[in-house]
Amino acid sequence: MTVATEEHLRRLPKVELHVHVEGASRATTIKDLAQRHGLRVGDPADLYEFTDLNQFLSIYDVICASLRTADDFRRITYEALEDAAACGVRYSEMFFSPGFVIRLGVPVQTVWDGVRAGLLDARADLGIGARMILDFDKPSGPAHAMEMAAFAGAQDRDLLVGMGADSVERGIDHRAFAAAYVEAARHGLRRTCHAGEDGPAEHIAIAVRELGCERIDHGFRLLDDPELTAELVDRQIPLTACPTSNVMIANVIPTVAAHPFAQQRRAGLLVTLNSDDPGMMRFSIADEYVAVADAFAYSLEEMEALSLAGIDAAFAPDHEKAALRASFRTEFDELRREFGLPSR
Ligand code: ADE
Ligand code: ZN
Repeated sequence: MTVATEEHLRRLPKVELHVHVEGASRATTIKDLAQRHGLRVGDPADLYEFTDLNQFLSIYDVICASLRTADDFRRITYEALEDAAACGVRYSEMFFSPGFVIRLGVPVQTVWDGVRAGLLDARADLGIGARMILDFDKPSGPAHAMEMAAFAGAQDRDLLVGMGADSVERGIDHRAFAAAYVEAARHGLRRTCHAGEDGPAEHIAIAVRELGCERIDHGFRLLDDPELTAELVDRQIPLTACPTSNVMIANVIPTVAAHPFAQQRRAGLLVTLNSDDPGMMRFSIADEYVAVADAFAYSLEEMEALSLAGIDAAFAPDHEKAALRASFRTEFDELRREFGLPSR
């Protein structure tokens, strides 16, 4: 077993599949945008304090109120990918959640124009592969979900690869979104959903069995249902786990060590490691790799495998995934040489 230093883990090439562009935004940027739009939000860094998912989401609302123009969305998208690239992320699938600003009168087209521009600039400048997933807002209901599926369906599939769902989980009738997911599938969008974060495993079951979801965001509660766990192992439906977020945002566990992450991996599930809202948590994906290696005493081999699991679970085309695997393996070897460790 090889033990990696913190520096080594920070520089490991990574894939991230669960990160919200609004929640990744820098407090300094939100402050600047709020001032430009004549809004008084105080110091956003003070706002980035929360004790459960619903409180977090009310703060998310305040953050999103500073996002008004396409250029605002271009900037936060570019900066989020810049921050990710600095953590070793080579490929990212990021969520954007137009529901939070649509209710303030910002058209979804404006949001997408900005996000798309930021994405294209980041691809060109930063050597990072990136695609977006449009998350509809669950509390806004099935008509909003359908509208988002139709909008996402009409965009360039190489840039907008999928549809997901986020925000409140408890008390939401997830079955009500079945038609929206059918519409998404009809457009060739890949489908995912936040489920089993602070709600029950039943929501994961509905997502994979009735909504046609190909990936589950969080899936924290999955092991509560052994039959469903066996089904996800069998179908290799990935979980995009966010252990520190589950401590800091959903507050469903006291520490990362209490997360079922290691148990889920031992069960044969395809589990990936993600940050969720790195700006608002002030905890990056590089911090997350260090925290998880520490909490579960993972070897470098296990951390490299975790990084590769992100490629397996990605919605990228097969040829791109094959190229990522090859370049990750080369980088793993180079890093091992640099840190004076035995080769794999
Ligand atoms: N939107 C941003 N972060 C979220 C989370 N952790 N759960 C649900 N919706 C979110
Ligand atoms: Zn999330």
